[in-house]
Amino acid sequence: MQGLLRLIGTAEVPEGEGRRVQAAGGDYAVFNLAGVFYVTQNRCTHGPGDLGECLVEGEEVECDFHQGRFHIPTGRPTAAPCTEPLRVWDAVVRDGAVWIDPAAGRVAA
Ligand code: FES
Repeated sequence: MQGLLRLIGTAEVPEGEGRRVQAAGGDYAVFNLAGVFYVTQNRCTHGPGDLGECLVEGEEVECDFHQGRFHIPTGRPTAAPCTEPLRVWDAVVRDGAVWIDPAAGRVAA
């Protein structure tokens, strides 16, 4: 698991919800969509919204500041006023926890 950062135990993120996780200087949102885990940046690209604490509907998270939306698996914006995609990381599930390689974040084109 060299290079991987542990974010949160899988049991701490109920299905259909997200959790904000601050770790190693990063600010992440971990989502559980029907048992599959995804990791995005926590901060909304439009403003100060904490997406890990926002409402999840299907594969989207709705920012509670201005109701902009993002597609969680890709980070792409799906509803105004959000236009900039989120950075996303591949979630690795191991030993009952969600891990990422912090250096391997990417932003959809
Ligand atoms: Fe998230 Fe404006 S801060 S939609």
